[in-house]
Amino acid sequence: MAGKKDLLHVGIDLGTSRSAIAASNGSRHVVESYVGWPVDMVARKVVKKSILFGREALDSRPMLDLHRPLERGLIKEGSEKDEAAVRELIKHLISLAAPADGQKVNAVVGVPAEALRVSRQNLRTAVKGVADALMIVSEPFAVAYGMDALLHTMIIDIGAGTTDFCVMNGRYPTEDDQRTLTNAGDSVDDQLMMLVKARHPEARFSIHMIREWKEAHAYVGESPGPVQVTAPVGGKPTLLDITSEMRKACESLVAPLSETMLDLLSRVEPEFQEKVRRNVLLAGGGSQIRGLAGVLEKTLADVGGGSVRPIEDPVFAGAIGGLSIALDAPGEDWEQLAG
Ligand SMILES: Nc1ncnc2c1ncn2[C@@H]1O[C@H](COP(=O)(O)OP(=O)(O)O)[C@@H](O)[C@H]1O
Ligand SMILES: [Mg+2]
Repeated sequence: MAGKKDLLHVGIDLGTSRSAIAASNGSRHVVESYVGWPVDMVARKVVKKSILFGREALDSRPMLDLHRPLERGLIKEGSEKDEAAVRELIKHLISLAAPADGQKVNAVVGVPAEALRVSRQNLRTAVKGVADALMIVSEPFAVAYGMDALLHTMIIDIGAGTTDFCVMNGRYPTEDDQRTLTNAGDSVDDQLMMLVKARHPEARFSIHMIREWKEAHAYVGESPGPVQVTAPVGGKPTLLDITSEMRKACESLVAPLSETMLDLLSRVEPEFQEKVRRNVLLAGGGSQIRGLAGVLEKTLADVGGGSVRPIEDPVFAGAIGGLSIALDAPGEDWEQLAG
């Protein structure tokens, strides 16, 4: 048996937009989920690296073959480059966690629930050679585990590509306990893009600017104040009002999220439904949309009332939860990869 010192446990949250790692040696890192290879010899000379990750990759994107390998919450099938990108991303995260020489790595990888169903084999291949033992779990389950919210709770993890739901019944969740919607951060960005274009057709802006505006001002319900942003009109920086567009784009999540929340609730054993209603947790970057928890709580009021709360650390909750699973899981729950 390997002693504790010979083994590094890590929890990895493999997200569409951001991926994070938390390790048993105390390190925590987050990178945007972009991987890029220099397109040619000139690009290689300029960037001085054979592969780039995260923000650095995004900033050098004209020189790179850039991949966001988990778009829509799945590892893109059949694309060798995307499969390689997932492997490189996991390798990069583990290298950031800095295992000691010769130390084995046991990794719990949290992915969108849908990827768990469809991309399990791809993930396994990606992690082979990078970690020694693997457990693949759904992201919301990892969040629930890390918060000790294992019984009579519902996690709604609002990411970029997907919103993942998971009801915890005090055991490993099954497929019936989980749902994935593509109504999430990216779909809000698309809506906001369309609405702002319609209102200010003369202004120029990119999807990256739209996302920044959303992250600074996202809200549903009562407006906390006017939302004004700056974008060039005819080459001149101009103040644009996008208050109602912001609300409409963010509120596009409310109906599908409410519907799925209620549907999952209705499948909970009747005597436990009230407990679950009182324990709904919002995770993921989208949990920071102002007013969203309140609006979902209103939906619950119609079925007997409940409580919806955003969690405190949406960036690391999944990775930290994965690490707790790694530290607790008995040998037989792991898949040994080393051959
Ligand atoms: N303050 C914020 N308000 C609203 N949305 C946000 C905020 N911060 C991040 N987001 C959005 O959350 C999504 C990313 O969430 P995250 O949980 O990191 O996703 P994933 O797990 O898919 O990588 C993106 O769409 C991002 O724009
Ligand atoms: Mg996530």
